[in-house]
Amino acid sequence: MVHNDLVLQPGNTPVAGHESMMAVPSSRTPEVPPDVAPKVAPDLAPMAAPEVAPLVAMVGGGQLARMTHQAAIALGQNLRVLATSADEAAAQVTPNVVIGSHSDIDDLRRVAAGAHALTFDHEHVPNELLEKLVAEGVNVAPPPQALVHAQDKLVMRRKLAALGAPVPRYTGIERPDGLEQLDAFAAQVDAPLVVKAVRGGYDGRGVRMARDLADARRIAGDYLANGVGVLVEERVALRRELSALVARSPLGQGAAWPVVETVQRDGICVQVIAPAPQLPDELAGAAQQLALRLAAELGVVGVLAVELFETTGGALLVNELAMRPHNSGHWTMDGSRTSQFEQHLRAVLDYPLGDTDPIVPLTVMANVLGAAAPPAMSLDERLHHLFARMPDAKVHLYGKAERPGRKVGHINFLGTELAELRERAELAAHWLAHGQWTDGWDPHD
Ligand SMILES: Nc1ncnc2c1ncn2[C@@H]1O[C@H](COP(=O)(O)OP(=O)(O)OP(=O)(O)O)[C@@H](O)[C@H]1O
Ligand SMILES: [Mg+2]
Repeated sequence: MVHNDLVLQPGNTPVAGHESMMAVPSSRTPEVPPDVAPKVAPDLAPMAAPEVAPLVAMVGGGQLARMTHQAAIALGQNLRVLATSADEAAAQVTPNVVIGSHSDIDDLRRVAAGAHALTFDHEHVPNELLEKLVAEGVNVAPPPQALVHAQDKLVMRRKLAALGAPVPRYTGIERPDGLEQLDAFAAQVDAPLVVKAVRGGYDGRGVRMARDLADARRIAGDYLANGVGVLVEERVALRRELSALVARSPLGQGAAWPVVETVQRDGICVQVIAPAPQLPDELAGAAQQLALRLAAELGVVGVLAVELFETTGGALLVNELAMRPHNSGHWTMDGSRTSQFEQHLRAVLDYPLGDTDPIVPLTVMANVLGAAAPPAMSLDERLHHLFARMPDAKVHLYGKAERPGRKVGHINFLGTELAELRERAELAAHWLAHGQWTDGWDPHD
């Protein structure tokens, strides 16, 4: 274990990032002091009321909600999801579904009704609607004043800079007449530019690498003309990308998983290696501390992913934040004592957090990304073949229709040999997506 002092041990309150170590009684199970407990004759005692399992409401019916439901089952909890249609990944598996829109206050009220906490599988709910729900007594986790820092890339970047987190050099442009700023910024940084829409992007959508200054102006101008602000930043010379995943509870407990490497291809994460190979302990520890500090200072409740750039010079810069279970934490489903989905539930319900230790030296996660054209062989048949060749593959499929580049599942491999695990993860993910073994393997040979 690399960062013993940061990692939660059973029976311990994790040490870093906590604000309070006081034990407080759970708000869900108030204890009646003995002297005021009603005195009832034994034969008249009412039957114990059936226990009510905690209910968590999650906005969004995608794979993150689906896998959170899976964790809720084990904890005896219920997950209700707000999905846009009955065939979404989570709506297929949880019986408790509200079909509606994340930007409709009445739909949000319906999913939140009676829930102990309302949480998210994406960050697209308008913040003012969340403020309204809070005013109506809903326990929104993470709270809107924290979540706003994961909803708008410019708000996020400014806050990170204000908190002293190292970030790429940037400028924010909010109105078309602010384009002038871009020239001055370009002259100042003297590096290729990246233009990002401040809202609405994911998997690299909304992130554009500008060819030159004129291109950057054109891209930024298009967004601004459509009423979308932009974050313009230097293109960082990357050695690789990392992610520091932590969780924080309302009580102030914090827990950090090992820092991982996220391998990206065309702006999409294709593999995650846990822990990040050859990351000096010092740097890994600093990244965990930073993530725990950000979680505490922003008032995060639940899982927080801090996406990091490791520069060619060996420095770490924060790219962005996500306040929910994150693709870089899918390895924890099989490779850690506590999965990020279970931890998210524990955190939003203010339970003690779980042990984040890895259970093996290395876990490699590969995303299954939909092929350009779905293969003739059914996905289920491909799964049969995968298991025949690789009985140790831990497969998680999302029930989503296969579309080009779409994340339809992921596979975890656990072991000790990095090169071998990575190669097998790559082969397996490609096989599941395309129905082809890239090494020419043939079961009938
Ligand atoms: N300043 C930069 N310098 C170099 N590469 C960058 C920069 N900003 C973004 N990228 C690349 O683009 C990818 C996507 O960027 P970013 O994470 O900001 O967008 P996103 O669409 O919100 O991402 P996602 O949903 O995949 O997390 C990054 O993971 C990185 O590979
Ligand atoms: Mg990102």
